[in-house]
Amino acid sequence: MHEHLPAQARGVTPRRFAIGGVTVAPNLVLAPMSGITDSAYRTLVKELNPGAVGLVVTELVSVEALTRRNVRTRGMMRFRPLERPISIQLFGADPERMAASARLAEDLGADVVDVNCGCPAPKVTRKGGGADLMRRPAVLREILQALRRTLTIPFTVKLRAGWDAGSRNAVEVARMAEGEGAQAIAVHGRTRAQLYSGTADWELVARVKQAVAVPVIGSGDVTTAAGALARLAETGVDGIMVGRAALAHPWIFREVEALQRGLSLAPPTPAERLAAVAALIARLEEELPPKAALGRSRGLACRMVKHLRGGAELRAALTRAPTTAAMRELLAASSALAYESAA
Ligand SMILES: Cc1cc2nc3c(=O)[nH]c(=O)nc-3n(C[C@H](O)[C@H](O)[C@H](O)COP(=O)(O)O)c2cc1C
Repeated sequence: MHEHLPAQARGVTPRRFAIGGVTVAPNLVLAPMSGITDSAYRTLVKELNPGAVGLVVTELVSVEALTRRNVRTRGMMRFRPLERPISIQLFGADPERMAASARLAEDLGADVVDVNCGCPAPKVTRKGGGADLMRRPAVLREILQALRRTLTIPFTVKLRAGWDAGSRNAVEVARMAEGEGAQAIAVHGRTRAQLYSGTADWELVARVKQAVAVPVIGSGDVTTAAGALARLAETGVDGIMVGRAALAHPWIFREVEALQRGLSLAPPTPAERLAAVAALIARLEEELPPKAALGRSRGLACRMVKHLRGGAELRAALTRAPTTAAMRELLAASSALAYESAA
């Protein structure tokens, strides 16, 4: 614990908000990330940040695949009790299919259902889902009406700023969604056309916050605890989502939560980092077929050892390791003393 704190951090108390009857405390949310935020990763993030992640969101789940009774897709809706509260994110464009899939999510015990209105991938938008809903709010309205008729748990939307620079309509879409019963609005302050380039427009996020009465969760480019607190203070949003920064540094939530209480946490030690990577790999082995587990393990392990000074060799070796078991052996053999944390 250190005493040198940004002024804004002093005296700030932990915050919470509610999505319908679901309390999100603290007001920090693990952002949905396709190919990453599966049950194994969400569990790791919850365990590394005890009491500091208020809500986790699944990867985006295809309602078309659910309708075809795809087993792998159905598996994406599974979660452990310790992950709760959890939001299951659906993507699609057909109101009845969205409603049937949302009902399934509710039956499986989800706390919240989220509608993806932000995915920029052509294979999603071509079929009218994801960010395409930002330019067809009438379809989104029908989806939300169908969810309202079907669900007893709350539903939310996750928006982008708009489709492109000429149609930054997040404020209008948020107002419409609130009118149709959405109980919270998440906004990533980039347009679909921007993909992940440029910077997120938090001024627009603040305007969405001012436009609706339901809680607003801001998303985009939060990389430090001080940055998260600054966004909360500047925009008045109810919650903050963290995505990419949690890939290399999944401990960020406990750092934000501590700073909200005026405390500055020391970064994890190299030994903690290596142990976390090994634990994640072991969980991925349990949950996925070997090839898929290896793919996900490589991506995440390399990101998580990035912060170790002198970790380049380990990273290269992890990338070359032919199996997840070999990766775990490498981690065990890597004397934690050999690495200094660069963070
Ligand atoms: C690899 C990756 C996958 C993502 N997948 C999803 C997704 O499935 N659903 C979604 O709503 N947003 C998705 N996003 C967007 C994030 O939730 C988040 O809004 C965005 O990355 C900005 O936040 P960040 O700067 O904290 O990463 C994804 C982002 C990344 C980098």
